Amino acid sequence: MKFLSTIAVLATAVASVVASTIELGYPVDGSALIPGHNVTVQVVQPVSAQYPCLQVGIALAVNGCIRGVCPDPAKEMGAVLYSGAWDPKQQADGGVYQNFSVVIPMFLGGAGSGIFSLTHVCLLGSGPEPVIEFRNATVKFHA
Ligand SMILES: *[C@@H]1O[C@H](CO)[C@@H](O)[C@H](O)[C@H]1NC(C)=O
Ligand SMILES: *[C@@H]1O[C@H](CO)[C@@H](O)[C@H](O)[C@H]1NC(C)=O
Ligand SMILES: *[C@@H]1O[C@H](CO)[C@@H](O)[C@H](O)[C@H]1NC(C)=O
Repeated sequence: MKFLSTIAVLATAVASVVASTIELGYPVDGSALIPGHNVTVQVVQPVSAQYPCLQVGIALAVNGCIRGVCPDPAKEMGAVLYSGAWDPKQQADGGVYQNFSVVIPMFLGGAGSGIFSLTHVCLLGSGPEPVIEFRNATVKFHA
């Protein structure tokens, strides 16, 4: 029974920290991205996320906004810059993250601003339950 109650406690803890499974370390709101250039995207595993959500992967995408109105990344991602595994590691600077170098598409130069999105999929608990979640940053494009 000790084992079962441990699982129950773990399941409760898992449910309450689902909101902090992943973070977009960079870009952040207000970051300036240069179309045609690489940007180092930082995908962080928060300290609070040390529980068993089996990683499926992530997608990184960027979309243009029109007159400050940005498409919802859950419905329209725009240009997909990366899709695949996410394997965060303990880094020398103390964080647990993985960096990805991606190219910002040239055609976004026409849009003044954009929305950069991180889509994350993992399998939670013993069910398991598939979890899909989104993080975003509103960015500016500089020539
Ligand atoms: C990862 O990317 C972030 C944001 O661009 C940067 O600050 C950090 O130094 C990078 N870390 C490594 C190990 O390259
Ligand atoms: C971006 O994420 C925030 C939560 O961090 C959310 O409130 C907002 O609606 C999202 N924006 C879009 C366009 O999905
Ligand atoms: C720029 O990003 C692409 C992936 O989009 C990558 O293949 C390439 O190695 C990156 N270049 C640099 C200098 O990091």
